[in-house]
Amino acid sequence: MDGNGRWAKERGLPRIEGHRRGAEAVKRTLKAAQATGVEIITLFAFSVENWNRPKAEVDALMGLLDRFLADQLPELIKRKIRLRTVGRYKELPEHIQNRLRQSEAATAQFTEHTLALALNYGARTEVIDAIKAIAQATQAGTVDPDTLDYDSLRPYLYTNDLPDPDLVIRTSGEARLSNFLLLQAAYAEIYFTSVLWPDFDESHFKAALADYASRERRYGKTADQLQDS
Ligand code: FPP
Repeated sequence: MDGNGRWAKERGLPRIEGHRRGAEAVKRTLKAAQATGVEIITLFAFSVENWNRPKAEVDALMGLLDRFLADQLPELIKRKIRLRTVGRYKELPEHIQNRLRQSEAATAQFTEHTLALALNYGARTEVIDAIKAIAQATQAGTVDPDTLDYDSLRPYLYTNDLPDPDLVIRTSGEARLSNFLLLQAAYAEIYFTSVLWPDFDESHFKAALADYASRERRYGKTADQLQDS
């Protein structure tokens, strides 16, 4: 969800106003996802690197998140959307952890739609955490490293109960993944748009889905092999 700062700068507004409008775009996108039948969306809301931003901006982002979680819980319940957190949970402020636990518990029974929030997330951190856990499990004798493959690695990722993404959308004209779901997105289609996140709406979401629908996913096979199967 990139471009909040630039959106604000273009209008002579403080960066936090861009984030505030970004939170509105989150609500629009959640509705668009549900309306178009997308079952799971994962939003990169705060990265492990984002702690390096000025304290006032970090505090404002946590404040927005707190308000979003409080305001949206009744909406998530009404629309039967499960909330899930992806990232190093325990390093988040206590009040955010409490809100997340409350929202996760209150929506845990929903199975058709999931909103995953990537918070204090970084793909490299996730891989390091997985390696540490696997090393411990190997020492304890519960994992045999010789039989380890991607499927047996999955339970150690923060996304352990989520499928790999089919489509990754990056806004604001940047053409990089910036440490987002690097393993899980290995075969994802990537869609770059110059739209700044606060302007992102249902029409942009649908444009991304239409672009995705036009792609041929080969997973290393040839186009002929796909036709034959
Ligand atoms: C990147 O844009 C955006 C973020 C670091 C924060 C994203 C947060 C929100 C959209 C709002 C809060 C989230 C929720 C779920 C309520 P940037 O600030 O780096 O933009 P720039 O590159 O234009 O400066």
